[in-house]
Amino acid sequence: MPVVSARKLVKRYDGFLAVDHIDFDIEEGEIFGFLGPNGAGKSTTMRMVQGVSPVTSGKLEVLGMDITRRSKEIKALIGVAPQEDNLDPDFPVVRNLTTYARYFRIPAEEAEKRARRLLEFMQLEEKADAEIEELSGGMKRRLIVARALINEPRLLILDEPTTGLDPQARHLIWERVRELKRNGATIILSTHYMDEAEQLCDRLVIMENGRFLVEGRPKDLIQQVVGPCVLEIIDPEEGRDIESYLVSVGAQVERSAYRIYAYSKQCQTIQSGFRERFPDTYSTVRSATLEDVFLRLTGRRLRE
Ligand SMILES: Nc1ncnc2c1ncn2[C@@H]1O[C@H](COP(=O)(O)OP(=O)(O)OP(=O)(O)O)[C@@H](O)[C@H]1O
Ligand SMILES: [Mg+2]
Repeated sequence: MPVVSARKLVKRYDGFLAVDHIDFDIEEGEIFGFLGPNGAGKSTTMRMVQGVSPVTSGKLEVLGMDITRRSKEIKALIGVAPQEDNLDPDFPVVRNLTTYARYFRIPAEEAEKRARRLLEFMQLEEKADAEIEELSGGMKRRLIVARALINEPRLLILDEPTTGLDPQARHLIWERVRELKRNGATIILSTHYMDEAEQLCDRLVIMENGRFLVEGRPKDLIQQVVGPCVLEIIDPEEGRDIESYLVSVGAQVERSAYRIYAYSKQCQTIQSGFRERFPDTYSTVRSATLEDVFLRLTGRRLRE
């Protein structure tokens, strides 16, 4: 049985359709990613799964229970690290964890033990007695993730857990997420870092305007949407000529301000032909990544 199961799930804010009839199943022990541009509906979907944002219509089951009828039970079993910082500034670090533990009726002594262990897990033990305002942004993020683990949840929901973190802290979170998965937890996460999603997620969806554009394993999506490789033309001068040439040899072509991207199964061959024809234009072949998938599907222009 899936840990989360959604059918025709809808969230409407007044007239605005933030989540538009989506279907998904998240299996036990999997790391499932929500990707998509700002405003796509990732947090809204995750908040419905947490039981903090009422479902407008459709069916949503979490841990085998209907979210509309049993949100209290569900909340007791899951851990949540929201996108925004909602730490309590009136309590020092360790008490943010022990106070939170009370919601789950964890006895004080046990809560203290877990809090110390989690601070260590997130490499925050030296900050145990610090005030929240003394923490850096990255330390707050780590504390929010630590807090999400206080009830030893079977399902962990992390909304952009690594946004704003330095590379060491990001890697620490990745390590910890993998460790939790090894111990049997199911993890839902959202991220804007495509390398992170590619490395961490067993399966993911890319959302836009409240719908899924694609769903699958990162490697499969790269193969399906982009192919094995990308030929990048750097600073092309007469763009039109180059583009039509690349199209004529069967590549799928996309353009951003200073680059042309050609997607093909035969990047090396196309590059050889390209170099003969445009000897003065720099080009390079690289493996396709999830970032290419994302940009191909959602466009390379900045959105408002
Ligand atoms: N409480 C609310 N009231 C009205 N509209 C909302 C509310 N919360 C979110 N929205 C709208 O719903 C849409 C989806 O928002 P959501 O926060 O789910 O996006 P997101 O994918 O998490 O984006 P981001 O990457 O910026 O976090 C947006 O257009 C947003 O303005
Ligand atoms: Mg969000």
